[in-house]
Amino acid sequence: MTEAQLAYRRPPGPDQTITLGIDQETLATLEALQREFGDMVSMTRPNGRLAYFVNDADEVRRILVRRHSKYRKGPGFERVKMLLGNGLIVSDGDVWRRARTMIQPAFSRQNVHRLMTVMVECCDRRAARWGDLVARGENVNITEETSDFALELILISIFGSDYERRIVTQGENPFAFLSRDSTRDLGVVLKVRKLRELLMSIIDDRRGAAGENHFDFLSMYIKAVDKKGEPFTDAELLDELMTLIVAGFETSANTLNWVWYLIAKHPDIEKKLVDEAARILPGVSAVNADAVNAMTYTQQTLEEALRLYPPVWLFTRRAHDEDELDDYDVPPGTDIYLSPFILHRTERYWPDPDTFDPERFEPSDKASKDRPYFPFSLGPRRCLGEYFSFLEMKVHLGLLLPRFRMRLLDEKEPGLELGINLRSATDIYLQPEER
Ligand code: HEM
Repeated sequence: MTEAQLAYRRPPGPDQTITLGIDQETLATLEALQREFGDMVSMTRPNGRLAYFVNDADEVRRILVRRHSKYRKGPGFERVKMLLGNGLIVSDGDVWRRARTMIQPAFSRQNVHRLMTVMVECCDRRAARWGDLVARGENVNITEETSDFALELILISIFGSDYERRIVTQGENPFAFLSRDSTRDLGVVLKVRKLRELLMSIIDDRRGAAGENHFDFLSMYIKAVDKKGEPFTDAELLDELMTLIVAGFETSANTLNWVWYLIAKHPDIEKKLVDEAARILPGVSAVNADAVNAMTYTQQTLEEALRLYPPVWLFTRRAHDEDELDDYDVPPGTDIYLSPFILHRTERYWPDPDTFDPERFEPSDKASKDRPYFPFSLGPRRCLGEYFSFLEMKVHLGLLLPRFRMRLLDEKEPGLELGINLRSATDIYLQPEER
């Protein structure tokens, strides 16, 4: 701690230095700090840096929305950078602003609606697979199935017909390790390098065949230009595509994994979901954006699952400018920790917080607007894929749930694996039946 930092008004906190990462121990540490010191806690990290843990709804909003320009991405993002390069999730300042402006149009509602045929196609493939498992009397590893579903969906949404032509032909899906290997070790870095080579060759071929007509994220990213009319360089394009693949599937996959588990545990909620799907999506031909957007109970169920299990359970930021939070100063260089996981389960905001209850998200519930809820973040850096992922997940449940009942094999709560993403500690197996 420097002299200058000591002069600042700091929130209460422990005297000893505190080690924080993005892992299991960090959750326990943050929860203990909150219990002992309250909603604004300051501490010194072993590297001498000042860190604040902010668990106050208004201050969280202030950091992410109104004062967002005073903060950059924080500790832990170096690890993400190793995997994704300097794409949207990791970049900051002008680099981020330029890329976001170039990419945002690709995520317009109209474009996402055009990708709904891919969502249906991926559900059909799962239905065929699950039908086979039922016929053979085998259980479903829902963790693996939802992961494969979401990975396949994002890859086809990005590469269109090149998915079949260039990616599946590589033998096992060369991107599959991204969902299986959570260690992010050196081996992963080497595999990522190979993927970038594959991506570059697909990009080169696309550019060489300019006459062909494609509708997918790749063609939109290649055509995107900045204010000066400049497109992405090859390196930028690769970083953005890797970012889109990882951002676009792990989060949705983890959410669907939890949703299937929660539904299997709550037959009353399951019944309402099946009724809604049968009413609104009586078959594949009924799938269109208006119908899917009318699936309000399914939407509420997904929102409630994201409350309990927000895939991005911990956000980090670093102040690069002076700020004030509550009655305290934030000196430049302060690390900030915010946890949707903890705030979403804080009792004064969420009564009976551990209970799964989609009614909390009843659209007419006005009080819901004031509750801290940010599974997709808030403000200018809010998730770009939020609408895409809700459509994806509603189509998935709307088409698969009326066909398959999944029975819980193990009443025990699956443990949590807390890394960059929150996953179930072990794969969840369910017993499928055709309805
Ligand atoms: C349930 C699903 C999802 C959840 C919970 C989720 C959550 C998030 C969160 C919390 C962030 C901000 C992270 C931070 O600021 O530190 C983020 C950013 C982002 N997400 Fe998602 N995401 C989901 C699905 C998707 C999908 C399907 C896509 C793409 C198709 C996507 C693309 C992105 C991108 C590009 C960013 C970076 C935005 C920026 O910094 O400008 N996400 N997401």
